[in-house]
Order: sequence, then structure tokens, then C-alpha cells
Amino acid sequence: MANVTVIGAQWGDEGKGKIVDWLARRADMVVRFQGGHNAGHTLVVEGETYKLSLLPSGIVTGTPSVIGNGVVLDPWALKSEVERIRGQGVKVTPELLMVAETCPLILPIHRDLDALREDASGAGKIGTTRRGIGPAYEDKVGRRAIRLCDLAHLDDLGPMLDRVCAHHDALRAGFGEPPVDRERLLGDLREIADFVLPFARPVWRDLDKANQGGKRILFEGAQGVLLDVDHGTYPFVTSSNTVAGTIASGSGVGPGAAGFVLGITKAYTTRVGSGPFPTEQDNDVGQTLGERGREFGTVTGRRRRCGWFDAVLVRQAVAVGGIAGIALTKLDVLDGLETVKVCTGYRIDGKKFEYLPPHPADQARVEPVYEDIEGWPGSSAGARSWADLPARAIKYVRRIEELIRCPVALVSTSPERDDTILVRDPFAG
Ligand code: GDP
Ligand code: IMO
Ligand code: MG
Repeated sequence: MANVTVIGAQWGDEGKGKIVDWLARRADMVVRFQGGHNAGHTLVVEGETYKLSLLPSGIVTGTPSVIGNGVVLDPWALKSEVERIRGQGVKVTPELLMVAETCPLILPIHRDLDALREDASGAGKIGTTRRGIGPAYEDKVGRRAIRLCDLAHLDDLGPMLDRVCAHHDALRAGFGEPPVDRERLLGDLREIADFVLPFARPVWRDLDKANQGGKRILFEGAQGVLLDVDHGTYPFVTSSNTVAGTIASGSGVGPGAAGFVLGITKAYTTRVGSGPFPTEQDNDVGQTLGERGREFGTVTGRRRRCGWFDAVLVRQAVAVGGIAGIALTKLDVLDGLETVKVCTGYRIDGKKFEYLPPHPADQARVEPVYEDIEGWPGSSAGARSWADLPARAIKYVRRIEELIRCPVALVSTSPERDDTILVRDPFAG
């Protein structure tokens, strides 16, 4: 099986977009299978910057790109992203972008609800991207979602709209908000249908054909394992499964199609939004990492919280995510630090823990146990081979491999596409 599945091994923003773009040149298809436009990826190709949220990161290389049924699709967000990226000279045609007909839609009422809930939650808020992701997934499993294929049958939409609007009207009333403007929603859907329907397809058939024909499929996960709704730091998570197994339910292939699972892993840790973060450095160290790593969200512009590498969490992500090798990114951000710390274990009330316990109260009390690693003089920035890396930087990479019990397949040393070291070809399995 020559397929590769890319997933985030931390709390998102590990550099998945850069790595998917790099791998996409050798793939026949790139497939998103969960999440939505809560994702935000920055790609830099020969100095030109591309920002993607909903479009698979293969679109820039012109690799046929698929949005699978597991993605929650905001058709208005898709339109503005397509227009923006076309403005940068990237081709987006129905031959290059295929969207599953069964994608549930994110409607303006989902965005409303996301924001209403966050605003009402005070200190307990999740810090969502306010894109309506959670409410749209709720309506999907509640069997009242409007799906992409429904836009081809707008005259039959009445009863479905009644169902979803009745549900939202009750919730909105609780927040003192007026009922959904049903006519306006229908009008908006009519208008956007013309744009989005040409991309709608039974993509499971395209994927089946590609698999039968021995094509190389690159599955692109969004977010990261620690934001997984089952395996992450619940309730401070997103509303989808971000682990590799989700390719099956989220695009319509068998689980065996995942191929080599590549976990994208930052050489330190960041998190955006609320929730536990044992190795967070709310001090000069965090400030330095944030400035050097330019840790501001692609989607919301929020400052990302920064901290040391947490080997306990990545080891857990490797296990539950099914990760076979990692791409270690942003190694260059640690250049020149005198000492680099790595968390190798936890203590809670004096008791040792080798994993993150599930209860938020325990998670909040975790004390990380650190190992000090000597930093490296010199620069890893822009390195494209092992030989270009300072010897002590290599030592750091090797120590991480040991601690997380997973080999490094790629190392990334700058935002630029080709500043990437290939250690082991993920497509070779
Ligand atoms: P994603 O959501 O996982 O695709 O990651 P984001 O794109 O949200 O965030 C990663 C950020 O780090 C982006 O701004 C990238 O351009 C940048 N980046 C990726 N790899 C590297 C690297 O190796 N070094 C540095 N300095 N920046 C990187
Ligand atoms: P990429 O693909 C980082 C976080 C939000 C919030 C939580 C729930 O760029 O790595 P949601 O809007 O999904 O309901 O928010 O999840 N979050 C991300 N954090 N990277 C992402 O995506 C994220 N997508 C969601 O900040 O804490
Ligand atoms: Mg991101």
C-alpha cells in the first residue's frame, strides 16, 4: 500500500499543511476526511505564501484534491477561499477539486450558535474558532443536517429545513435570540448552490478507482490527536475524530487504505484555545518560542500558547493515533537556545504518571518532569540534509525518537517547502 495518512500529533498547527504540500508532488490525490474551516494551514513556496483552511493542501501543487464526507462544509467559506486562492494563480476546477455529495453543511445558524455558547460560557469557554464546527457535527449525528446533495433538490428542502430550524429556534430562544429567518436561509442556499454543486461528486467512487488502480493517495488530517473528541483533552477538543482511522468513515475507503501514518510533530508544543497544557511556559521562554516560531493562528489570528516538547503526550498520540513515523517540524525555532527542556514524565500529587489521566482536574494538576538537553550553537534553519544540521540538534532529534518510541521520517527546518530533510520515504511504507 503506497498511501500515506498525515495527522497532527499534538494540539494542531504542527505544520501539516507544509508537509502535505511537500508530499503532494508525489501523490495522485490529496483527501481531507474530517474537520472543516477551523483548520488553517500556511504554505510557503519560493517566497509566496498560501493560506488554506478547507481546501486540501494538495491544491497548490495541482494535485487532484478531495473533500470527503467526514468534513463539515461551509459553502460560503469554500467560495471565498477558492476565489482568494485563484487570485494567487492556483487552479481550482471541478477536475481538481472533488467534494463529497454527502458532506453536511455548516450554515450561518451553526456559526451563530457556536458564538452564542462561547460568549455565554465565561471562564469555561472552549475557545473554539467560532466557525460553527461543533454545532454542525451535532446536527449531523442528530440526523437533521442539510447536506451538499440537498442543494440539488432545493424544492424538496422544506421538511428538512423545518426540522433543523425548529431545533435551532428552541436553542436560540434560550439565548434570547430571534428565530431563524427561514426564507433568508433558503435564499442564501439557493444562491450558493450554483457555485458549489459543480464540485459535488460521489468521491468514494473516485477513491475506489484510485485504490484499484494502485494510485498514491495522501490523506490529510486537520487538527491533532490531542484535539480528538475521544482521545483528546476533553472537553477542550474539536468535534471530530482526528486519528488516522477516521479516513475510513470520513472519505469512504477501508481502514487498510491509510497506508503509512505520518504524525506531524512540532519540536516544542503549542496550543490555541483553552484547556490543560502541562509544559506551557507562560513566561519569557514561551514568549521567545512564540516570537521565533511566529505562533499566531492562521484562522483566528489568536496568539498560540507555547511550551516545551511533551514526550508523554506525543507518545500517547503515537499509540492512539496509529502513527508509524513522525515529521519533526520547526526544529530551527530552537536554534541558539542554551538549554532545551523535554518533558519525560508527569507527577500528580507526588504520584508518577506516564500518560495524561482523563479527568480535567487531574490534568490541571499535572507537574511535568523535565530532562535538560544541551542546546546547539549554529543554525538548523534551511537545512535540507542531516549533514546540514548541528550535531547537537541531531542528538535532540534522536532523543525525541527514543522518548516517543517512534522514528523520524522527515525533519522540517523552515516554512519554505523545500527546507525539508527526508529521512525515510513515507510512500515506501
Ligand atoms: P498546520 O495547521 O498543521 O498546517 O500548521 P499551521 O500552518 O497552522 O502552522 C505552522 C506554521 O509554522 C506555519 O506558519 C508554517 O509556515 C510554519 N512552519 C512549518 N514548518 C516550519 C518549520 O520547519 N520551521 C519554521 N520556522 N516554521 C515552520
Ligand atoms: P489545524 O488543522 C489548532 C481548536 C480551537 C479550540 C478547539 C475547538 O490548523 O491544526 P473548534 O472550532 O474546532 O470547535 O474549536 O480546537 N482548534 C485548533 N487548534 N489547530 C487547528 O487546526 C484547530 N482547529 C480547532 O482553538 O481550542
Ligand atoms: Mg493550523
